Amino acid sequence: MDKNHLIFDFQSTTPCSARVVEEMAPYWNEFWGNPSNTNNRSGLFASAAVEVSREKIASWLNINPKRLIFTSGATEANNLGLVGHAKAKAKLYGKPGHIITITTEHHAVLDPLRQLKNAGFRLTELQPNKDGLINIDQVSEAFEKDTFLVSVMAANNEIGVLQPISEIGSFCRRKGIVFHTDAAQALGYLDLDPDRLQIDMMSLSAHKIYGPKGIGALVIREGVPLEPSQYGGGQERGIRSGTLAVPLIVGFAKAVEITRNDQQERNKRLLFFRNLLLKGLKKNISGLVVNGSIDQRLPHNLNISFPGVNGSRLHSQLRRFIFCTSGSACSNGEPSYVLQEIGLCKRDAEASIRMSIGRNTTEQDINKAVGIITNIVNNLRK
Ligand SMILES: Cc1ncc(COP(=O)(O)O)c(C=O)c1O
Repeated sequence: MDKNHLIFDFQSTTPCSARVVEEMAPYWNEFWGNPSNTNNRSGLFASAAVEVSREKIASWLNINPKRLIFTSGATEANNLGLVGHAKAKAKLYGKPGHIITITTEHHAVLDPLRQLKNAGFRLTELQPNKDGLINIDQVSEAFEKDTFLVSVMAANNEIGVLQPISEIGSFCRRKGIVFHTDAAQALGYLDLDPDRLQIDMMSLSAHKIYGPKGIGALVIREGVPLEPSQYGGGQERGIRSGTLAVPLIVGFAKAVEITRNDQQERNKRLLFFRNLLLKGLKKNISGLVVNGSIDQRLPHNLNISFPGVNGSRLHSQLRRFIFCTSGSACSNGEPSYVLQEIGLCKRDAEASIRMSIGRNTTEQDINKAVGIITNIVNNLRK
C-alpha cells in the first residue's frame, strides 16, 4: 500500500493480518487434502482444521457449530439465506409471500430481495429516519398476514448506524417469522449472540475483520427451512455444496480469535480516535454535518458532509492524500443512495466522505487527517 497516503478506509475491507496469513500457510500445500475425503491423512488434517475452525467461530457466537454454513462471503450468505428461505417458504405454502427490509441495506441484500420481487414475492422497503435508524413501529406497521421474512442489517456500511436488531428480533419471534441480519460490518465490533438477539439467520464476512477475502458464513437457527443455492457433493449439510476453502476457513477462525481477544479494548480506542477526528474537524470547518446517529454507531465510522462544497473536487483533492470513500465500495461512483435515503440532496451526498479507522491507526494519523481535510474544504469554499 502507498506509504504516502493516510488510510481511512477500513470498511470496504481490511488487510489480512500477518498472524492470519501465518496460520493459513500450511493449508495451501502441506495439509492440502480435501476435507470431504478423510480416507487419507491429508484429508483428515484438512477436515479437522475445518471443524476446529467452525467450533472457534461458533463458540464466539455462542451457538452449536452445526449452525454455521461456510460461504464465500457475506454476499453469498445473504443470497443463500434470503433466496433459500423464500424458496422454501413458497414451496411450503404454494405461493410467494411478503418480505420486509430497509432501503439503506447493502446491495448484497437489496438485490436478491428485488430479484425475489421480480419472481412474485411482495417486498416492503422501509425508509429509515434522518438519523439512519428505523424503529420497531415501522416494522410492525409494514407487517402483513403473509409476511414471513424480515431482513435488517446490524450495522450500516456507509454511515455505521446500528439498527435495533434485538427489538426487531423479538418482534419477529413473537410473530413467528424469520429475522435475517447482515452482520458483515458488525462482526468484531458488537456482541453477536444470535439467540440472545433472536436472530434466525445472520451473514458474516472474514475480510472485514483482518481475515482473508473469499470466506464468510451464514448462521442459521435449527428448523429454519432453506433451499440450497447450489447442488453437488452435499457439503455443509447439503445446503452449500462445494469443496471447502480450507486455508480461508482456518484464516477466518484465526481472525475471529484475534478480534475476539481485543474487541473491548479496540472499540474504546477506536471511539476515542473517532471522537478526536470529529472534534478536530468540527472545530475547523463550519457547517459540517454528521450523517446518521452519532450515538447508535460503529466506533470506527464517521460519515460527514460539507454542504456548499463541490463533491467531485473534494474527492479528487482528498484522493491525493487520504484513502477514504464517498459511499460504499460498490456504489459505482454514483452519489450514495444511503445518504439520499436519509434526506440528503444529491449535491450534499456528493460532498460527503466516509472515514473508517483501522486497528493500527495512530493519533498522529488522526491529527494529520484533520489538517488535510480542513485545508481542502476551507480552500474549496473560498
Ligand atoms: C453490509 C455488507 N454486506 C455485505 C457485504 C459483502 O460482503 P462480501 O464482500 O463478504 O461478499 C459488505 C461488504 O462490503 C457489507 O458491507
